[in-house]
Amino acid sequence: MRIIVAAFEETLELGLQKPGQVVPMIPTFVFGWPTGQESGDYLALDLGGTNLRVCLVTLSGEGKFELTQTKYRLTEEQKQEDGSKLFDFCADCVAGFIRAHIGDKDGSIKEGQELALGFTFSYPCTQDRIDQGTLIRWTKGFGAPNVEGRDVAELFRNAMAKHHLPVTLTAIINDTTGALIASHYVNPRTKIGVIFGTGCNAAYMEKVEKIEKINHLNLLDEDPEAEIAINCEWGAFDSFVHQHLPRTKYDQIVDESSNKPGEQAFEKLIAGRYLGEIMRLVICDLIDEGVLFLGQNTYKIEIPYSFDTAFLSLMESDPTDELLTIIGLFTFFFGLETTLAERQFFRALSRLIGRRAARLSACGIAAIVSKKGYLDEGCAVAADGSLYSKYPGFADRVHEGLVDIFGVKGKNIVTHHAEDGSGVGSAIIAAMTKKRRDEQKFMKC
Ligand code: BGC
Repeated sequence: MRIIVAAFEETLELGLQKPGQVVPMIPTFVFGWPTGQESGDYLALDLGGTNLRVCLVTLSGEGKFELTQTKYRLTEEQKQEDGSKLFDFCADCVAGFIRAHIGDKDGSIKEGQELALGFTFSYPCTQDRIDQGTLIRWTKGFGAPNVEGRDVAELFRNAMAKHHLPVTLTAIINDTTGALIASHYVNPRTKIGVIFGTGCNAAYMEKVEKIEKINHLNLLDEDPEAEIAINCEWGAFDSFVHQHLPRTKYDQIVDESSNKPGEQAFEKLIAGRYLGEIMRLVICDLIDEGVLFLGQNTYKIEIPYSFDTAFLSLMESDPTDELLTIIGLFTFFFGLETTLAERQFFRALSRLIGRRAARLSACGIAAIVSKKGYLDEGCAVAADGSLYSKYPGFADRVHEGLVDIFGVKGKNIVTHHAEDGSGVGSAIIAAMTKKRRDEQKFMKC
């Protein structure tokens, strides 16, 4: 793990020095921390790996807020069909949400009220300004054509233009940056934001003087102390070269059969999108060897991605001696009978996969901690995503990993559940940006 951390740290450094690196270390143009006094009404649009969400966030300062939201499930087709349709869907949802809430009984949106919108678009985008973002590549199984290499802010604005609504897109935000800022708004000890969900990634605050690749923007002339949140896009660590992370043959199959072979090498060992698939591939291998489910019809479990990562959590938390949850899971979803010994094996296997994911996650966090020198004073790490919030013991295993890397001082680094970054974080960032613009600071960004 220490060897991985050292390589990780070097990679992060390189991403800050030069543009176009595998781990792109994207400056987000979110300048510094929120004051906690940000206030007002904001819209937030959140295009995640699984859902689309529209929120109205009312910030009332002193780290307080209220939020109203509507969630829409994204279908697999929507992730693959032309990008213009995806952005039309986003715009339709925002328009529908506004219409539903204009002058409603709480009077949440007033007729004609101008609203700033923060768009949480959680895919790697390079940014020249905060209200622009060029998609480097889709991740998390998305493949919608005609979006990679294009400015997603422009695509969204074009789609919104059809609705003639008084909404201004103020910022393109990553979910990790949102988690970092929202959590710092309520707990200023927060120094790192991480997402362990369908995908995985982290953000932290960096001194502009350390980001060599943006020297040409001369930001230090305006403020020599300036800091910018960095969206690391660490899921790409070790992509293509596969030099630093130990991979099994199952990891290689997950990679090669994905829509993006070679890419997101770190993410494919950790994120919720892939853990169930790793488990399924091990099971299928044992079926091929004739060790499991002899004489039973196994076609259902042979369907790629049919084994949800949530099943791993369920198997790990089965409280019964007979492992009744596991019996139910295999009969209900796959029509398969299991013996007690098999169920114990499946449970052990899910522990192994979940524990590896958590320990590798600890390596990523440790790389940032070590780079920033946070170990002695300690820091809080705001974490979110289904794996972090729903997988039993994930957080404990991350903490255990940090102690294995740093020794007892690793206890100074504590993860906690992040505030809603993609909703509240996005609103705070919209508010911070508006204030910065009003004060005429870093106007080109
Ligand atoms: C994306 C990141 C995102 C992470 C967590 C990754 O696949 O590239 O932008 O932060 O998933 O949602």
